[in-house]
Amino acid sequence: MAERIAVTRRIPGPALELLSAGGDVDLSPHDRPLSADELSELVQGAGAIVTMLHDRVDAALLDAAGPRLRVVANVAVGYDNIDVAEAQRRKIVVTNTPGVLTDATADLALGLLLALSRRIGEGERLIRAGRPWSWDMNFMLGTGLQCKTLGIVGLGAIGQAVARRARAFGMNIAYSSRRRVDPAIEAELDLVHRSVNDLLRESDVVSLHCPLTPDTRHLLDARRLALMKPTALLINTARGAIVDEAALVEALARGCPAGAALDVYEREPAVDSGLVERDDVVLLPHLGSATVETRAAMGKLAAENVVAVLGGRTPRNPVD
Ligand code: DGY
Repeated sequence: MAERIAVTRRIPGPALELLSAGGDVDLSPHDRPLSADELSELVQGAGAIVTMLHDRVDAALLDAAGPRLRVVANVAVGYDNIDVAEAQRRKIVVTNTPGVLTDATADLALGLLLALSRRIGEGERLIRAGRPWSWDMNFMLGTGLQCKTLGIVGLGAIGQAVARRARAFGMNIAYSSRRRVDPAIEAELDLVHRSVNDLLRESDVVSLHCPLTPDTRHLLDARRLALMKPTALLINTARGAIVDEAALVEALARGCPAGAALDVYEREPAVDSGLVERDDVVLLPHLGSATVETRAAMGKLAAENVVAVLGGRTPRNPVD
């Protein structure tokens, strides 16, 4: 009997076609985040679930799916929405989509950095609001990046891709990571390793690229934000909850850090009004991987992972 493959939200057509080689695809009719009840109903009896980063996969959902479930394929590199330990306890494979979104996310991090440091959003808002302006030597001055220090928290694939791009802008790179990277990469990118606290003290720009785990939740809390230079800029394209959002609003109001550019939020899709009202903050709606090519590749990878597990093979991207 063909397995049922529950897909919680629309994914690119070729990925759906690939999935249909592995079983009977049951795509949610609602193209929006499902409630817990809707999710539970969709996954009942499924052999595989294709999930989005907003779907909470916990013991209750795994119970609702039942004993046929063999794989949960998250269409994201991050998998903080999934209780992986609980899935593994039940011998359910969890997969993610690393690699294919590295460049898109790194590009966006640099885009945010430029938007913030050169006041691109502010300038655009000024023009669109029809406010009067004229060129003058002191008009809307930003800050240059050359010879400034970029502190990268989490030097995985995306962190390294950001480091490469930032080198092209003439930035010096420091990083903080649980493990030191290969000395060859340190040498190639002229990287210095720092503790998180030292990195925050020394950096002109801090960019977050670590996964959200119990250890990194609120890694940047009020105490750590206070370590940043008053001129420093904070970029977050990783996960919102790595920063204590309320503490960030207070820190920005006190003027330290000097600005923030965020693609992710603690309670997405909600964004703290204390951020929305500030001109020294750039805000995007979680667009890190949002290119046509990247989303197609993410969908394909997730589908291949499902087909592999249902076919009795080891998937390319098991999470452990
Ligand atoms: C991911 O894959 O984790 C990204 O946040 C998706 O944009």
